[in-house]
Amino acid sequence: MNTFKTAVEPPTHTKEPAFEFSDSDFSYLRKLVSSHTGISLSEQKRNLVYGRLSKRMRAHGLSRFSDYCRLLKDNPDAELEHFTNAITTNLTSFFRERHHFDFISDELIHILQQRYHTERRLRIWSAGCSTGEEAYSLAITLREAIPDIDRHDIRILATDLDSNVVKTAARGIYPAASIEGLDSQFIRRWFLRGKGELEGQVRAVPELRRLIRFRQLNLMHDWPMHGLFDAIFCRNVVIYFDTPTRQVLFERFANIMQPGGHLFIGHSETLRSISSRFQLIEKTIYRRTC
Ligand SMILES: C[S@@+](CC[C@H](N)C(=O)[O-])C[C@H]1O[C@@H](n2cnc3c(N)ncnc32)[C@H](O)[C@@H]1O
Repeated sequence: MNTFKTAVEPPTHTKEPAFEFSDSDFSYLRKLVSSHTGISLSEQKRNLVYGRLSKRMRAHGLSRFSDYCRLLKDNPDAELEHFTNAITTNLTSFFRERHHFDFISDELIHILQQRYHTERRLRIWSAGCSTGEEAYSLAITLREAIPDIDRHDIRILATDLDSNVVKTAARGIYPAASIEGLDSQFIRRWFLRGKGELEGQVRAVPELRRLIRFRQLNLMHDWPMHGLFDAIFCRNVVIYFDTPTRQVLFERFANIMQPGGHLFIGHSETLRSISSRFQLIEKTIYRRTC
């Protein structure tokens, strides 16, 4: 293994001294990210790893990444969660990829309602929900389409590996700017404007929060859920997963879905060469066929 030490320069706008970051440190951290999260970091992500973990280095008063690697090896229970939270990319927004939500209100809702008559329950999973905007967008879409939804057994499960974003999601409090582009009627109906300390922020109304269960869950680990999902959203999560990891994951998604259930993936993603158990029915929307 190459143990040549390189002090990677920090971004030029900061004055902090460079942390010592060797090839073997980077190699160790890449392997750990891959085995723990499924995220496969290329050689080019070296500066990203440095930047994301700098805060952890400062928190521990460390100057060498080798010491941080040692800390992860010696005390994974204390540090692995912080490490994971620092590495994940959580970009998301309300009604991101709007056509998915239009598809639900225009077409899927009829299929779901028919299925509800036989199953008496509907389950939707936002897998990799980040700070929750995806799950709240789903909840708004369902509430708009099914006014008496509280009389039915309909739930959204929203999970993410990153424990910080799950906490934010469960609180349902967002900067007011994050809902600016939404229809003003939606805003009035589904969000409360913050006052005092919460000035400039909005909170999803309790009717939305009641539909959703937020949980921390690593997609690479066992899934404790019982019962099959009618629809799964796994959007912009597997972008950095390698092909074998994606193949295993989508096989597991197929196994935990109703036959004919719907799967929604991110705008730059495809199931081509990944899974033959789904049929593409619209851009990035699939139906489980077998
Ligand atoms: C870019 S966000 C996407 C959020 C949302 N699905 C969307 O499309 O707007 C990706 C999320 O996937 C989560 N993630 C990455 N690897 C994961 C894993 N192994 N298990 C669960 N969540 C994971 C990250 O923590 C992050 O919050």
